[in-house]
Formats: sequence, structure tokens, C-alpha cells
Amino acid sequence: MSETTEQQWTIQRLLDWTSEYFAKSTIGNARLEAEVLLAEALNCQRIDLYTRFDELPDPDRLATFRAWVKRRGAGEPVAYIVGHREFYSLRFAVDANVLIPRPETEHVVVAAVEFAKSLDARPIRIIDVGTGSGCIAVTLATQIEHCKIAATDVSEGALAVARANVASHAVEDKVKLFQGDLLNALPHGSQPVHMIVSNPPYIGRLEIETVDDQVKSHEPAIALFSGDHGTEIIEQLIQQAPRYLLPGGRLIFETSPIVMEKCLRLVQSNPAFASVSVDKDYSGLPRVVVATRADQLCDDG
Ligand SMILES: C[S@@+](CC[C@H](N)C(=O)[O-])C[C@H]1O[C@@H](n2cnc3c(N)ncnc32)[C@H](O)[C@@H]1O
Repeated sequence: MSETTEQQWTIQRLLDWTSEYFAKSTIGNARLEAEVLLAEALNCQRIDLYTRFDELPDPDRLATFRAWVKRRGAGEPVAYIVGHREFYSLRFAVDANVLIPRPETEHVVVAAVEFAKSLDARPIRIIDVGTGSGCIAVTLATQIEHCKIAATDVSEGALAVARANVASHAVEDKVKLFQGDLLNALPHGSQPVHMIVSNPPYIGRLEIETVDDQVKSHEPAIALFSGDHGTEIIEQLIQQAPRYLLPGGRLIFETSPIVMEKCLRLVQSNPAFASVSVDKDYSGLPRVVVATRADQLCDDG
């Protein structure tokens, strides 16, 4: 995108050039990503670009766009460049401290909202483990009228992003954030809850070669990896959860189809859970585990 070229950089020409450049850089959805970046740089809707094809962006906005195209060309995800991502039709601020919210994770929200509908309790008490951007906790706070959510994360950087999202969605009265390891992050003597939701890290370090380079290079390793096989953190969660759940309460967590069988075995072999089921994602893959706590806990449960 040379500045000295004779032709002027209209919106149409910027889009054409950038789409081609992204396509050559093996970026999927090259045209879409070019449009998203240009619309953001021009502070307009993507659709509006089509009525402004002959316009020349002002130099400051053009400079911003050029810098962003360079970053995207170097592999940085669009969400980190523009600083936000949509999840469950809500906008979440993101930066390199947090996983970029994924559509699969919306199924955790769907399962939790469904379960909440079956409960008479007020407030419905929920824990979100590994909250990251806060996308699950904040979305539940917007969807469940009477709820109190404790959201934990081990990463202080992630909690700073979650705090910003809690504030921007005005759910401070419903969502409280705690730093620490899994459920140990919660204050001693916390009341048991109706459900624990989580999208924990679940990629095994032995699978690292199969992970997309863009993900590996830019998203936080602590949000992605869990032991050699991907189940280390989930095992701890399954072990800890019953003591924090009310009888009949649910542990709802996302995992990958690769470790799904192992996760189901872990729940089924734990007498503190009475039943378990699996929800599929938008691609029809097994994605979300829903485990119901038994009425009684064994002494060691
Ligand atoms: C896969 S990300 C999910 C983030 C967010 N809930 C989402 O769905 O987009 C996992 C999150 O768990 C956090 N995490 C990793 N290990 C943890 C631990 N031992 N205790 C608490 N949080 C942890 C990471 O910092 C990261 O934010």
C-alpha cells in the first residue's frame, strides 16, 4: 500500500488491495477481515463501506488502517487489533491477556440459562471458573434476572479485562471477581451454588503441533493448555466442584471432542455426581458437559 502510487486510495481500492494481500498471506475470510478493519478504522458499520466506495479516508484514519493491516498481515488476530469481539450478540473488550471468546462457548451459556429457568431460587448463585474476558459471567448476568455470580481467574491481566466488561455491561451488582486457582480463589465459607460454569484450558501440550499458529503465537498459553493431555485442570475442577454445589446443582463446562470421552469417564467415576449429559456445538461436535451433583456427598467427595 505505497503512498506514492498515482492512483488515489479510495475505500474500494483499499478493500481490494487489502483483501488480496490477506488472501496471499493465507488469511481465511480475507475480504471480511479487510472490511472489519476498515470499518473500525473509519468508525462506521461494515455495510456503510459499500455506499462510500469512492470516498478518500482522512489521513489519520488511513494511517491507523495501514498499521492494523500490517499487524494482521503479521498474524495478530483481528479481535486484538480492534480490541473487541462479539459473544452472544454482546460486545466484549479483549486484549492479549484473554482468550478471544469463541462461538462454541455460547453453548455453555445456553445450558446454564436453560437450567436457571428450572430453578425457583432467588438469587440463583453461580460460579464461573477461568472467566477470562468475563464473557460467560457477564452474559449470564444479562440473561438471568436474579443471579449472583462469582467469577474467578488465576490471571490478574485477564481479571482487568473482565472488570472492564463487567463495568461496560453494568452488571457490577451481579458479578464479583476473584483471583486465584480454580475454586480455591473463592473466600472461605462461600455459600454453595446452583451451578458452576467453566470454559477451562483443555488443549494438551502433546497436541501443540495441531494448534493453529495464530492461536499459539497470540493467545495466552495459560488460557489454552492444561497438562500433557488437556485434562489436568478439568480433573481438578471435577474433583473440587461437588463441595461448592448444592444437591442437584450442575457443573457445566466446555471441552474438546478429543478429550470428551475422558471427561465423561471422570464424571461418571465420581460418586458425587448423579448424572451427566453432553451438548453439541454449532458443528454438531460434542462440546459441553453437564454434570448434576448427587443428593449426598461421600466423606471424601
Ligand atoms: C479457555 S480460557 C476461557 C476464558 C473465558 N471464560 C472464555 O470462555 O472465553 C481459560 C481461562 O482460565 C484461566 N485459568 C487457567 N488456569 C487457571 C486456574 N488454575 N485457575 C483459575 N483460572 C485459570 C485462564 O487465565 C483463562 O482466562
